[in-house]
Amino acid sequence: MRKVMILSGAGLSAESGIRTFRDHDGLWEEYDVMKVCSAEGWEADRDLVTEFYNARRKDLADKEPNAAHRMLARLEAEYPGQILHLTQNVDDLLERAGCRELIHLHGTLTDLRCEECGAVFPVGYRSQSLEERCPECHSERVRHNVVMFGEPAPAYRHIYEAVAQSGLFVAIGTSGQVIDVVPLAREFERSILVNPKRERHITSFGDHEEYIDEAFTHFIQKKAGEASEELYGMIQGYLEG
Ligand code: APR
Repeated sequence: MRKVMILSGAGLSAESGIRTFRDHDGLWEEYDVMKVCSAEGWEADRDLVTEFYNARRKDLADKEPNAAHRMLARLEAEYPGQILHLTQNVDDLLERAGCRELIHLHGTLTDLRCEECGAVFPVGYRSQSLEERCPECHSERVRHNVVMFGEPAPAYRHIYEAVAQSGLFVAIGTSGQVIDVVPLAREFERSILVNPKRERHITSFGDHEEYIDEAFTHFIQKKAGEASEELYGMIQGYLEG
């Protein structure tokens, strides 16, 4: 049975009004990522980090899924078990569009996590309160459920599983700065990149620069929502092939 690996990033939710990280108006232009999204920052000032995620959760409450989220949910419904979608996004727009078989590589904004027992439980769009207690072990050591730089990301093991099982790789709305999509694309005979911008590939060497789209067999240089019907057709063509 043919399977498709999809890796999505912040660009997938941009047309829903959610800021990306590294675009000109991105979150990392306004906030110091090391202060609000790193293990060191968390240890240095838990309140600052908690406030940052409270603000992002509040911002998410009135956002709606866009055409790309809806297309991905339709794909999953029509081809159950054949769409291996791993998202770097922590918003719940794919779930609200109807996706169920989704892997969040960097955690989820609408949940909290207990640092004592590891339980993950829903918080919706509200702020984490100072009186928050773990529903399982009643500990007060409760935190946001987003994976920060310098922390383990256990879900990454699913990346390698998906590469091994899939015959088509689709990368939507990611700069490739955290998960390098170039070596992933090179594992596939067929690969599709969806991004309105050509992103440079900053390798670990730093000297060899090329565009990430050069590693893909297809490059749809459009916004995810605008590309959704074309992308749906290409994925369906592969799955029915
Ligand atoms: N449709 C598709 N792509 C878009 C759109 C759009 N409407 N708007 C912007 N983009 C592209 C940008 O051109 C950019 O390449 O989305 C990409 C967003 O890149 P980043 O902001 O770096 O987001 P992402 O790649 O998801 O970041 C990965 O970094 O900070 C961490 O944990 C955070 O999960 C995040 C990770």
